[in-house]
Amino acid sequence: MEIIARGAEAVLYADVLDGRKVMVKERVRKGYRLAQIDERLRRERTNREVKLLTDARAAGVPTPQVLDSDSTTGMIVMEFVDGERVKEYLDRASSASAGKVCKRIGESVGRLHAAGMVHGDLTTSNMILRPGGSVVFIDFGLGSHTARVEDKAVDMKLLHDSLKAAHFRVLGVCWKNITEGYVKEYKNAGEVIKQIDAIEGRMRYAERAAGA
Ligand SMILES: Nc1ncnc2c1ncn2[C@@H]1O[C@H](COP(=O)(O)OP(=O)(O)OP(=O)(O)O)[C@@H](O)[C@H]1O
Ligand SMILES: [Mg+2]
Repeated sequence: MEIIARGAEAVLYADVLDGRKVMVKERVRKGYRLAQIDERLRRERTNREVKLLTDARAAGVPTPQVLDSDSTTGMIVMEFVDGERVKEYLDRASSASAGKVCKRIGESVGRLHAAGMVHGDLTTSNMILRPGGSVVFIDFGLGSHTARVEDKAVDMKLLHDSLKAAHFRVLGVCWKNITEGYVKEYKNAGEVIKQIDAIEGRMRYAERAAGA
């Protein structure tokens, strides 16, 4: 077994199941949490991630296929996605190819939001670019089913902030293409985009009020 990543709350390792390469994501016990609370959190996040991976896929958002899961041990066995994280890809992509990938990202977020879901951690570390060009979304443990415009705006704002922090070079072309893709796939996109501006306005106001 090859450990691929050790995240904030999960260990991920590659394995082989019925001759197929799979990714096992296991939410590990956290010693600093009370045992009962720890177990409940791991169970809830595992169930949530499985449900969202499946529902997002049904809504037309590429996600790894879930092959098995066990919420009592906090384990998910899913399809191993070959490719490169969008985070690394955007570091060296030309402006034109960054735009293309970002258009796909925007379309997928649009489909996700149109189907009444948010991802909860929309950063380029949670997207894998397949050699064929599709962008697979992973890591739905903080996502939820929601109809609120505010939740969707927060999702989009996080994506914008993460691009600004990690990919400033292509921020302009990326954001333009993300919003184009988003508008194309989601009829209430306009409301959400207005709400992102409102959130930014509130933040600027709070910063000024705090004397920053
Ligand atoms: N199905 C998959 N196929 C290929 N690589 C994957 C897959 N799932 C996860 N990875 C790789 O493992 C890394 C961590 O996975 P993931 O984002 O799901 O967990 P995490 O970030 O540790 O979770 P948390 O947000 O709880 O800390 C990803 O950035 C990606 O590189
Ligand atoms: Mg992650």
